[in-house]
Amino acid sequence: MLISSFIFYAHFVALKVIIIGPPAVGKGTQCEHIKQHYGVVHLSTGEMLRQAVQEQTEIGITARKYMDNGLLVPDSLILDMVNARIMSSDCKDNGWLLDGFPRSAAQAEFMVKHNILPDIVILLLAPDEVVVERISGRRTDPATGNVYHVTYQPPPIDIAEEVKKRWVQRSDDTEEKIKVRLAQYHANLQGILQHFKGMKVSIKGDEAKEIVTAEVTRALDEVCKSILYQTV
Ligand code: AP5
Repeated sequence: MLISSFIFYAHFVALKVIIIGPPAVGKGTQCEHIKQHYGVVHLSTGEMLRQAVQEQTEIGITARKYMDNGLLVPDSLILDMVNARIMSSDCKDNGWLLDGFPRSAAQAEFMVKHNILPDIVILLLAPDEVVVERISGRRTDPATGNVYHVTYQPPPIDIAEEVKKRWVQRSDDTEEKIKVRLAQYHANLQGILQHFKGMKVSIKGDEAKEIVTAEVTRALDEVCKSILYQTV
C-alpha cells in the first residue's frame, strides 16, 4: 500500500533538493516539472537577481555589473537573500528546490554551517558544446516568463507567432559570456560537491527534455520513498 501510493504522498514530503549543472543545461526547465510534481518551492537565485535588477534595488544595481559580464555576484549579496527565503514558512512546509545555489565552495559551506541540508543533489551533466547551443537558442517570453528554445522547445503552434514577436534573449546569453560562465562553473563544481558527499545523483542532461525529466523523477521518487519509510 505504502509503495503503490508513495507518488501520491510524495506531494506531502517536504523534499529538499539542490539542482546543479552548467549554464543552460536545462535546470530551470526541469525545475518547472519538479515544483509541480513534488509541490516544492522553486528558489532560483538567477531569477531572484534578475528581478532585483529589473526593480533597480540596491542589490540589483550591484549584481547587474557582475551578471552582465557572466561573473558570479559576491556572496555578500546572495547569502542573506537565500537564507531568509529558505527559513520562510512556505519552504518549511512544502520543501525547497535550490536552482543556481550553491555556486561556490563558500556558499556550500554556508549551507552546512546553517544546517541547510538537502535530501538530494541532482547534477545535470552535458558537454560544453551542448550548453553553448542551448544558450544561443534560448528565448524568454517577457509576458509570461516562459522559456523557449528556437529549435528544441518552440512555443505552442497556436501562440507561436504572437510569442515570437515579443520574446527576448538574455543579456548574458552571448558566446563571449557563456565562456566565462562555463569556466566559473567548472572551477567551482568540486568545491561545492565535496560538502554533499553521498547525496549526489548524476543525470545526463544532453538528452531530450522528456528523457531527462523521467530520470529526474526516478531519482526524486527514490528519495521520497526512503523518507516515507523512515517516517513509518
Ligand atoms: P542563472 O539564471 O542561475 O543562470 P545559469 O546557471 O547560467 O543557468 P541558466 O538559467 O542559464 O540555465 P538553465 O540550466 O536553467 O537552463 P534552461 O532550463 O533555461 O544565473 C545567472 C547569473 O546570476 C549568473 O551568471 C550569476 O551572475 C548570477 N548568479 C545566480 N546565482 C548565483 C549565485 N548563487 N552566486 C553568485 N551569482 C549567482 O534551458 C536552457 C535552454 O535549453 C532553453 O532554451 C531550454 O528550452 C533548452 N532546453 C532545456 N532542456 C533541454 C533539453 N533536454 N533538450 C533541448 N533543449 C533543452
